[in-house]
Amino acid sequence: MMRWRTRTVMVIGTGVCTLLLCACGIRRTAVRDKVQVGVACYDQGDTFLNEMVDCLRDQFDKIKTENGAHMAVTVREAAGSQRTQDDQVKELLDEGCQVLCVNLVDRADPSAIIDLAREYDVPIIFFNREPVAEDMLQWEKLYYVGADAQQSGEMQGELAAAAILSDQQIDRNNDGRIQYVVLEGEPGHQDAIIRTESAVNTLRNQGIELEKLSCGIANWNRAQAQNRMMQMISQYQNNIELVLANNDDMALGAIDAYKKLNVTEAALPVFFGIDGTKAGLKAVADTELYATVYNDKGGQAAAIANLAASIGFEKGMDQMEFENGKYIYLPYFKITSENVNEFLKES
Ligand code: GAL
Repeated sequence: MMRWRTRTVMVIGTGVCTLLLCACGIRRTAVRDKVQVGVACYDQGDTFLNEMVDCLRDQFDKIKTENGAHMAVTVREAAGSQRTQDDQVKELLDEGCQVLCVNLVDRADPSAIIDLAREYDVPIIFFNREPVAEDMLQWEKLYYVGADAQQSGEMQGELAAAAILSDQQIDRNNDGRIQYVVLEGEPGHQDAIIRTESAVNTLRNQGIELEKLSCGIANWNRAQAQNRMMQMISQYQNNIELVLANNDDMALGAIDAYKKLNVTEAALPVFFGIDGTKAGLKAVADTELYATVYNDKGGQAAAIANLAASIGFEKGMDQMEFENGKYIYLPYFKITSENVNEFLKES
């Protein structure tokens, strides 16, 4: 798994180098020596997104140091308001940005931003919050970088199935079924519904009998997840055997709830997350979180920076490999206590 990831990053890295060597050499006169990139994020209170923006800054910095040309980055965050984000994009365009990287607030409402970008003829790389397919067809200069939600759900399901099959204690009441609850991300987000469905289907396909007790929406948020989990515990006491969370922060919020209630270890369910945030990795290493799935923020950031460089330095798209002409999806990876140290080292 790690080999795959290293290779992906190397391919991307090589692409950037080649691109920038060309940028410095063959067409020196035609090439800009500075590209302004505007990054618009939906909410920097989101742990994964925050870590991803740090990776993006690092990646853009690397491009700057590997050759004489700069990529100057301005980041704006919209605190969850699409209208604020629309205004911020207008400001970024007025300030002269030549490439936009947009993490939409409302993934179903990108039209105002697309219209603006088109007016200024500035391409957009959407990331993490995937616009619906029809919107991606509104203009040819729209791209998306992210990861395949279904793959993350399947991996979470496989990790949970492997745990259940290898440890009979997880079925604490020994009824041959696993009583579970789900903590879901934002309604309407591609990574919420799809992750839940594919995790549950994967568990069933692996022969695990399941009984769903409850499902709570916690919007990717640790504190909200803690509240939802407190309610579920008060309703189902210690009958919950498995907690599937759409991301690490919500899995950690669920763990917080059990800690707050001082539930004894023997009555704890097993918890599974997705993301591999710093706190998530630490919880896997501490064996509080049974396992998680790595949402490759570094790989996604490298792909965004590489694509932005291709656009900004006007090198064309020959170096890039797209799905359906405009999508780049980076793979997820499973993380358990066995390989968590490799990821901790990298983060
Ligand atoms: C998901 C990630 C969540 C949250 C969300 C925001 O990919 O797993 O933790 O950051 O994106 O759009």
